[in-house]
Amino acid sequence: MNRIFSGVQPTGNLHLGNYLGAIKNWVSLQKSFECIFCIVDLHAITIKQNPKELEKNTLEVTAAYLASGIDPEKTIIFNQSSVSAHAELTWMLSCFTPIGWLNRMTQFKEKAGKKRENAVLGLFSYPVLMASDILAYKATHVPVGEDQKQHLELARDIAGAFNQTYNNDFFPLPEPQIFEEAKRIMSLRNGKNKMSKSDDSDYSRINITDNKDLINLKIKKAKTDAYPLPSKKEDLKDRPEAANLLEIYGAFKNEKLDKVLKEVGGKDFSSFKKILTDLTISKIEPISKKMNDYLNNKDYLKKILNKGKEKADEISSKNLSEIKKIIGLLII
Ligand code: TRP
Repeated sequence: MNRIFSGVQPTGNLHLGNYLGAIKNWVSLQKSFECIFCIVDLHAITIKQNPKELEKNTLEVTAAYLASGIDPEKTIIFNQSSVSAHAELTWMLSCFTPIGWLNRMTQFKEKAGKKRENAVLGLFSYPVLMASDILAYKATHVPVGEDQKQHLELARDIAGAFNQTYNNDFFPLPEPQIFEEAKRIMSLRNGKNKMSKSDDSDYSRINITDNKDLINLKIKKAKTDAYPLPSKKEDLKDRPEAANLLEIYGAFKNEKLDKVLKEVGGKDFSSFKKILTDLTISKIEPISKKMNDYLNNKDYLKKILNKGKEKADEISSKNLSEIKKIIGLLII
């Protein structure tokens, strides 16, 4: 059986990178797979969080899931900390994870920076928690961005180490699902950096709560170069900003780059930016409107999370019992 698991951290504004790179693709996955989409608040606290903000952001991501078209009747939506299997399994799996494997994680190196000795243990073991998210449900497929591929490979290695220790194939080895249309949305200010909620400049990203005027202004100010748009993919090689704007356009329209270039190749940036602005507004505005409606009804959002938690609990607690049995942890 195929089962999908993925998650987003509730750490601030959701932007086009989150939407086009993740959530939008999840919506179509629901049709053909059993899906579990989590709001990973335990991952969020590997970095210092303001408690009020964290709570607010958790509801905001829930609202964004629903507003984007994730259907809570079909799909399990919940916040990670409400299901105890995640933290419990993290401990168990950390006993199957050599420190050397974690030492290789590039995200840890980047986030810990030069002060490695001061980095908290949770930041170091972050990938073990991510492996537990996936393996607690025996998920088979995990849609992730390029930047999370290394963590997913680690999850496969941990699952393999567990299976090998007990000479079974209890855990399926989860497969990454990388989407063609929108692999990576980049900053509007620098086409070589990922669009990120931690970028100092709000002009580097389009948030899904941005209004018309702001979207218009941000695209107008987006960095470009001096040439018209090319008609061939090869000519985009050293033009990261042009490539990024075209990527955004294609992702919204569900079109491959070749098709996009046929349509807009030869245009200058000012006319392309107008088309892109209209398209972005027409796609984002309905979502941000719905999101606001949901956020005005927090009780409803909590009800959805609670229902998701119950379903997630049911699957993961059963798996956890089996894992305990395999390890030899006595269940009373
Ligand atoms: N680490 C992922 C990110 O920052 C979020 C995440 C947590 C996740 N657990 C997961 C993604 C499990 C996929 C599967 O993007």
